[in-house]
Amino acid sequence: MLVDSHCHLDFPELAGRIDELLAAMAEHDVGHALCVCVALPEFEQVLALAQRDERLSASVGVHPDYPDTVEPDVDTLVRLAAHPKVVAIGETGLEYYSTPGGADWQRERFRVHIRAARRAGKPLIVHTRAAAADTLQLLRDEGAEAVGGVMHCFTEDWETARAALDLGFHVSFSGIVTFRNAAALREVAAKVPDDRLLIETDAPYLAPVPNRGKTNEPAFVRFVAACLAELRGQAPEQIAKLTTDNFFRLFNP
Ligand code: NI
Repeated sequence: MLVDSHCHLDFPELAGRIDELLAAMAEHDVGHALCVCVALPEFEQVLALAQRDERLSASVGVHPDYPDTVEPDVDTLVRLAAHPKVVAIGETGLEYYSTPGGADWQRERFRVHIRAARRAGKPLIVHTRAAAADTLQLLRDEGAEAVGGVMHCFTEDWETARAALDLGFHVSFSGIVTFRNAAALREVAAKVPDDRLLIETDAPYLAPVPNRGKTNEPAFVRFVAACLAELRGQAPEQIAKLTTDNFFRLFNP
């Protein structure tokens, strides 16, 4: 069995196709998918998805790429995270690619999420892009090690992965690892320890080869798993087992 540790089934590209997506998951032995929240106004829809099928769970959080949305506070996040279907806080983090140098509101929002995760006792889903040093610094400052979590859709270097692993975090790879120009990322993926490795789609985006350019969906996580099996020299069944075990141990859905 495989698990998609990060997808956005509430996004318009996918929201009208849930039965079809669940059927494709069943067909390809994808037994669970974590529906990740990116803004509070969308949380209800994400939670409703998770409540609709036992193979789905939810997170609560506000993505750093959403400047003009309802700003979360610790109490609100902790209250929403109390629902048994909510297994994580996020996605949160820092996005300096679309916001060069970042912004104070991004850093403050990230701190709020880490504090909420610690109070709720639930792991963090961290997005970091072009912001590795600040991301690691804030995780350390706020004691994120107490709850751990995942560096999702990882695209940074080994030094960053190593620092995240040292904080007790997991590292999750998306379809990007299958892209032709991702040789450096594949070297990082080969080195992540078995007990910290996760896989995801980040659907509807980033469909893996051979479906690159199409709308992504949880069943496509099998192509990420196959790529990791090959580059790590492990059997596909072994990648499936360890990434699934890691997911259930971390998120306990
Ligand atoms: Ni995402």
